[in-house]
Amino acid sequence: MSETSLPPKFPLSRLVFYAAVVVIFVVAVLVGRQWLVGTGAPTPSSEATPSIPTIGGPFTLVDHDGNTVTDAAFRGRYMLIYFGYTYCPDVCPTALGATGEALDMLGEAGDSIVPLFITVDPQRDTPAALKDYVGHFHPRMVGLTGSAKQIVDVAKAYRVYFAKVVEEGADEDAYLVDHTAITYLMGPDGGFLTHFAHGTTPETMARRIRDYL
Ligand code: NI
Repeated sequence: MSETSLPPKFPLSRLVFYAAVVVIFVVAVLVGRQWLVGTGAPTPSSEATPSIPTIGGPFTLVDHDGNTVTDAAFRGRYMLIYFGYTYCPDVCPTALGATGEALDMLGEAGDSIVPLFITVDPQRDTPAALKDYVGHFHPRMVGLTGSAKQIVDVAKAYRVYFAKVVEEGADEDAYLVDHTAITYLMGPDGGFLTHFAHGTTPETMARRIRDYL
């Protein structure tokens, strides 16, 4: 029986030892959590606008001179972006014409804006075809194409819908492409500023763009 009643000194120091281990563990967990919260928590500004979907984002495409370009190449300048295709019978020419006119109206104030035409028909819209096409609308307009996947990716980022339409009995190469006809204004940081619905007059576009410059 005497063996079970151990000297009181030994278990007490053990108890202190275990208590110290527990305290160190709890402190470590609390410090760790604090560190995680401090670095991983969303900032108040992003918490305030959780329901606004992002429009835009990184892209890698091929410009009308055949060079690979990313969105970063346009950082520091505004981007006026429109998605379409050179075979488009009327919607694209109307929209691009309005963009060109709006830029002319802005004059020097519009020099910081790069008009971009991104094709949704990379199969037919080669860099050379785009270069010839965009030149009709504005001397600074840049045509962008890419692989089928690159185009799908950039269209997704900008929430642009497009779908090939082959009419019955028509030549397979004579297809049309249904597409979203919105012009996007993106800021010098690449972030979305506003958009223009199809049919917006050049005057209205120029006036609204000026507010952002
Ligand atoms: Ni079009």
